This record gives sequence, structure tokens and C-alpha cells, in this order.
Amino acid sequence: MLSSVITGTGICIPETIQLNQDFEQHKFFDEKGLPLTDPAKSIIDKFRKITGINERRYAPTDINTSDIAAVAGRQALLNSGIDPETLDQIVVAHNFGDVAYGSIQSQNVPTLASRVKHILGILRPECIAYDVLVGCPGWVHSLIQSHAWFKAGMAKKVLLIGAETLSRVIDTSDRDSMIFADGAGACVLEYKNSPQGGPGILGTSAQTHSAGEVDYIDMGKSYRSDDDNAALYIKMKGRKVYEYALKHVPFAMKSCLDQAGIDIRQVRKILIHQANEKMDEEIVKRLYGLYGVSEAPSGIMPMSIQWLGNSSVATIPTLYHLVLQGEMTEHEIKEGDIVLFASVGAGMNINAVCYRV
Ligand SMILES: CC(C)(COP(=O)(O)OP(=O)(O)OC[C@H]1O[C@@H](n2cnc3c(N)ncnc32)[C@H](O)[C@@H]1OP(=O)(O)O)[C@@H](O)C(=O)NCCC(=O)NCCS
Repeated sequence: MLSSVITGTGICIPETIQLNQDFEQHKFFDEKGLPLTDPAKSIIDKFRKITGINERRYAPTDINTSDIAAVAGRQALLNSGIDPETLDQIVVAHNFGDVAYGSIQSQNVPTLASRVKHILGILRPECIAYDVLVGCPGWVHSLIQSHAWFKAGMAKKVLLIGAETLSRVIDTSDRDSMIFADGAGACVLEYKNSPQGGPGILGTSAQTHSAGEVDYIDMGKSYRSDDDNAALYIKMKGRKVYEYALKHVPFAMKSCLDQAGIDIRQVRKILIHQANEKMDEEIVKRLYGLYGVSEAPSGIMPMSIQWLGNSSVATIPTLYHLVLQGEMTEHEIKEGDIVLFASVGAGMNINAVCYRV
């Protein structure tokens, strides 16, 4: 039976560590431009308490999103063992393109995927390179989309990368900016013969809610009145995103498992988008609740948020790679295990993929 199989993974975790303490000299403002009266240290302590984030990674100033995308992509290709010239597609999920340090300007032409193809030196014209913009769920969306391309008989081998340098598009006077991070994760996905019970994508689900929810995560001016008026930064209505995610994500995850014909008790690991530790715990608890199980099994959900923050599209492929490679010592994924990828973000978009390793 032909299945969509992940045959290699790769990551780029930028080396610059931005600690919570590094924000202590920041002046934070509210959305009306008024300075927050609490000292920065108490704001940061509260931030850690409500998100679980201690530190995050920022790309070095001379490195761009397509550069870290290429690093992760190259590693995924090496791990898969395929000849890069046999790829049918290179897909890069991101939201802001390349943003040169200090410029706050998205560069999306040429596509990041074309830039990555160039950096990797892949020449075959039939290997098409394009980007997907689906908010933080972009990389999971690229899995779903490639699975459909495979079933349509239009591709057999793809390189899927999620890469973002959110540190370049944050308003540092907004305390929510401390959530965001940089990073890249990738996989090679191949359509290949897999025995019954062998590896492959088992089910998918996706939703977009863009009525009242469309501006829950969007672009807005700095909270600092002396900032350049033309510049726009990533903004979110955090509480609304939080409530939205708790309400909809568990159902989207269940719908994916239902489509796969898999019961939650068969799932070995849940790899969920990392934006807020407590939010993720509550989402997973509610998912189990849909099956009449009151508590999620301990260790079901590997978390990287404490040291990687929210690296958007890079989060899930990075997490998957780290667990597969044994770099998260408390977690293990073995051949035959069933994992559930799930993400939520701007759009608002939600998606999930059920995968047998
Ligand atoms: C942004 C977020 C951390 C705010 O947490 P919250 O608990 O919803 O915050 P609330 O607005 O209810 O405020 C609770 C308290 O935290 C404070 N607070 C809110 N945001 C904060 C922040 N970023 N840093 C520090 N303190 C913050 C509030 O001032 C309030 O303080 P008080 O109790 O002294 O009045 C949280 O809503 C969140 O993580 N949302 C989801 C974000 C997400 O998933 N984004 C996806 C991006 S792809």
C-alpha cells in the first residue's frame, strides 16, 4: 500500500539565547500606549508563570529565515538518504518571509522555497519550490497538502520546512513579544510502499475560523508612541486566542483521529504547537475528556516551550526531530508508534495530522 512517510527530519535551533532576564531593561506599554506601571521584573515573572517560557532562541543578525530553513532542510535530506535532485517539491511554511535584521520588511520575492532550493544547489526545474502561509499551522498544513498531492499522483518526494524569525517582527514594547522565537524544522515526506500497519499519514483535519476571529492575531503598530508610524508588528489578542484554542482545538484533534480510525488510547505522543504551556495542557486534557478519560497520561505531550518559546511553524517539526533523535530524554518515539501533530494560529487556523512512525 502506498503511504505518505516521513523519511528524514532536520532542525536549526539558532544559537543566540534570549533569556527572560534579558527583557528586564525593556519598557513595556499597553495597547493605548500607556507605560505599564509594574516593574519589568514582575511583568516577566508573571509572563513565565502564565506561559511556562524561560528562554527562547533568536537568529544571529547576519542570518535570515531562508538560511535557517536551508540548514534544517539539508539535515532532513541527509537523514532521509535521498538524492536531493529526486525531489519533486520544496515547500517552506512561514509567515513573514526573509526579514533583514533591523529592517521590519518582509521579503517574499522570490519565495523562501526558491531561496532554499538555490542555497541547497538543487537544479532540476521539475522540482517546484513554493511557500505556504497558514499562520503557525503552516508546516502541518504542508504535510496535509503534500499528502493530497501524493494521492493525486502529482508528486512522490517533497522537502517540507517550517521556518520563522519572529524576533524581527515583534514590538519589544509589547509584553506579548516575549512569547515569540526563531527556528526552523524540516522533514522529507515520500509516497512509498508501506506494509499494513507500517508508517504513514493515517488521517488529517483542518479548519479556518475567520469571522469574528480574523484579527485575533494580526499586524499592528508599536505600543510606543515614538516608534516609526509606518512599521507594523505581530500582535495578538492573547486571551481570545487562548479561549478560541481551548474551544476548538480538541475537536479538530478528535476529528483527525476519527478520520484515521484511531482511538486516543492508541496515541503514543501528542506534538502540539507550543505557545503557552498551560493552554496546551488544558487542550490535551479536554481532548481526553471527549473520550471520557479524565486525565491525560503523563508524558504524552513533549514540551519545548520552556527553552524554545513559540517558534511558530518550526515548532512541531523541531519537536518531532528532537524526540526521534533521543534529544528529549524523558520522551521516546519508536517505529510503529502513533503520534498526533496539532497546531493553531493566525487565520484563525487549526489543523492536525495523525501519523504512524
Ligand atoms: C498572552 C497570554 C500569555 C496572556 O495570558 P492570560 O492569562 O490570557 O492573560 P490575561 O489577559 O487574562 O491577564 C492575566 C494577567 O496576566 C497579565 N498578562 C497578560 N499578558 C501578559 C504577558 N504577555 N506578560 C506578562 N503578564 C501578562 C495581565 O496583566 C493580568 O495580570 P493581573 O492578574 O495582575 O491583572 C495568553 O493569553 C496566551 O498565551 N494566549 C495564547 C497565545 C497563543 O496561543 N498564541 C498563538 C500564537 S501562534
